[in-house]
Amino acid sequence: MLPMLLPHLGSRAAVTCEYRCNNQCAHDAPNVSENEYFADVARKALSRRGALKAGAALALTTAGTAALAGTAAAAPGIDVDIDVDLEVQLGRRVAGLNFKPVQPNELDAVVVPEGYEQQVLIRWGDPVIPGAPKWDIDKQSPEAQAKQWGFNNDYCALVPIPGENDKWFMVSSHEYSSEQYMFRGWDPNNPTEQQTRTAWEAHGHSVVRVERNRRTNRLEVKLDPKYNRRITMTTAFEVRGPAAGSKYLKTPADPTGRKVFGTMNNCSGGLTPWGTILSGEENIHGYFGNADKVTDPKTLEQMKRYGVTNKVTTRKWERFDSRFDLAKQVNEPNRFGWIVEIDPFEPDQPPIKRTALGRFKHEGANVIVNRDGRVVAYMGDDERFEYMYKFVSDGKFMKGHSKRARAHNKTLLDTGTLYAAKFTGNSPAAEIDGSGKLPSDGKFDGRGEWIPLAHNDKSFVPGMTAEEVYVFARIAADKVGATKMDRPEDVEPSLKTGRIYAALTNNSERGPAGKEAATEVNPRHSNKNGQVLEIEEDRRDNTATRFSWNLLLVCGDPKAADTYYGGFDKSKVSPISCPDNVAFDPYGNLWVSTDGNALDKNDGLFALPLEGKERGHVKQFLTVPIGAECCGPIITERHVLVSVQHPGELDGATVEKPASHWPDGGTSQPRPSVVAVFKKDGGRIGR
Ligand code: FEO
Ligand code: CA
Ligand code: CA
Repeated sequence: MLPMLLPHLGSRAAVTCEYRCNNQCAHDAPNVSENEYFADVARKALSRRGALKAGAALALTTAGTAALAGTAAAAPGIDVDIDVDLEVQLGRRVAGLNFKPVQPNELDAVVVPEGYEQQVLIRWGDPVIPGAPKWDIDKQSPEAQAKQWGFNNDYCALVPIPGENDKWFMVSSHEYSSEQYMFRGWDPNNPTEQQTRTAWEAHGHSVVRVERNRRTNRLEVKLDPKYNRRITMTTAFEVRGPAAGSKYLKTPADPTGRKVFGTMNNCSGGLTPWGTILSGEENIHGYFGNADKVTDPKTLEQMKRYGVTNKVTTRKWERFDSRFDLAKQVNEPNRFGWIVEIDPFEPDQPPIKRTALGRFKHEGANVIVNRDGRVVAYMGDDERFEYMYKFVSDGKFMKGHSKRARAHNKTLLDTGTLYAAKFTGNSPAAEIDGSGKLPSDGKFDGRGEWIPLAHNDKSFVPGMTAEEVYVFARIAADKVGATKMDRPEDVEPSLKTGRIYAALTNNSERGPAGKEAATEVNPRHSNKNGQVLEIEEDRRDNTATRFSWNLLLVCGDPKAADTYYGGFDKSKVSPISCPDNVAFDPYGNLWVSTDGNALDKNDGLFALPLEGKERGHVKQFLTVPIGAECCGPIITERHVLVSVQHPGELDGATVEKPASHWPDGGTSQPRPSVVAVFKKDGGRIGR
């Protein structure tokens, strides 16, 4: 028997919503704070117009300008100095984007442009640790899964190994288990302990060594006995930063509040300039049961704000480990919802939960080194009407890969200031009517500010201690009037320009009575297709507290009046819907992957230039198989990697009745996998 599927809104299968985010969209969004509503935003915008005119010199550049020299240190492996060839200089093509777009489709395949080849690099169940048993869907065990590639790969990073060309550590997250696609005969009412423990090991991360075969140009996974690693729900994590040891993090099993077993629902992430990866613990609310047994009103309020309201969970882990049972203790949920940092170069060091970056439903975190050496992490809280955040370190980045530099850099995310974002539009209120029609100034744009929440042990939020600000960052951001957004997913700075790009994936609930109406930064009611936001910090200083913003893309059917493609001719673009992850290629172009394409086609990966006449010219580079989401894009000079998450995850499908046979074909089971795409002639991507 399959789980009772709640009616769901949006374009993903109901079953995806059930397993991934515990039907978040079928419930009221937990943000019921009385933040600034549309009228307030508009009123303030009007009163600030004079000031804006005076500041026009600082306004965002859009069309017709060349990228300024980067002010930021590049992350490892991001070559920011690649020369553009003559044709590109003459404006005849955009470097890195010279490919013929693929057409939207509903195939059970990964489709890539002409002249490109694809390979499946690694699949759910493939060996990560030497000696891992061969995967067999009928011979699963926690011991086997703990040595094999986990389920539902999402974020993916290639961390270059210094001094070794074409060799990387590939770090991927395994966001969630979908038991009905993992176990034959799955009975949602009676999961076995073996299935449950296997699912614990299917979560988390994998680290594998990857090398490029110079003859074939293919990437190859190596079974490195020293560095390959699985991190799962049973791996010991250290808690660091200002909330380490907080009373809100102490449990009967961990009276110190400093040691947590496991990580869950790891969604997107970011590669740091010091060669670690950051990963966001996202929809953590769905894993804890017996919420109805909690009686303390303050605890209930805190739990509710994070959506921790289940009596019985989908996976029923509470039957097998009391830490998932809220009747036994209430603090375990507070030990998840953090950014975790993993150092692939130090396989014996425990991964760290970085509390200075606040606790919410983290999509991911992406770091840039500011010109003064401080590092800035940008973050999104992926739920309807939630906020965007940034963290500015106190300490400064130390260059190089020496032991000393790395040890120092790994302390940077422990001390600093956490901010939440507030956006103000510059067009009159009456022109933002929820239809998506551009206002008379031709753009959804305006100004914004970063409102400080806490600096180390000092809270800036009345009525909250610093530890409360970090553990309940959503409540802190409510109190300071941060702007409610349409599901902030990846928020990533361009290392070439320092500008920040945020995917706002959709918001089914904006507009109706009792819900917040359209604002200039979230301009559509019942927003099905999402938007991509561009931010430029004042003075191009990533530590600044004020910024300019504009909507680069208002996604959806290019033929529809409510869409905007950076001002580019919409008759020439690929349709894009539900932007989720963003990435940059070595030339500074933006790549966007999608989750839940509301245009009734498969998800995929898209690219667009950010500068010049072609700004906004979206082209689709690939599509992923039926039921799948396209995650974790990486674009290097010669490869494009994507995580194909939950192929075949359609309502009614099971192991007995698979809806996809990707990647192995025939009558095989679908398996989440990482795909690498490269040019058949071995050349550079998009050249
Ligand atoms: Fe796991 Fe925000 O998607
Ligand atoms: Ca405007
Ligand atoms: Ca995502």
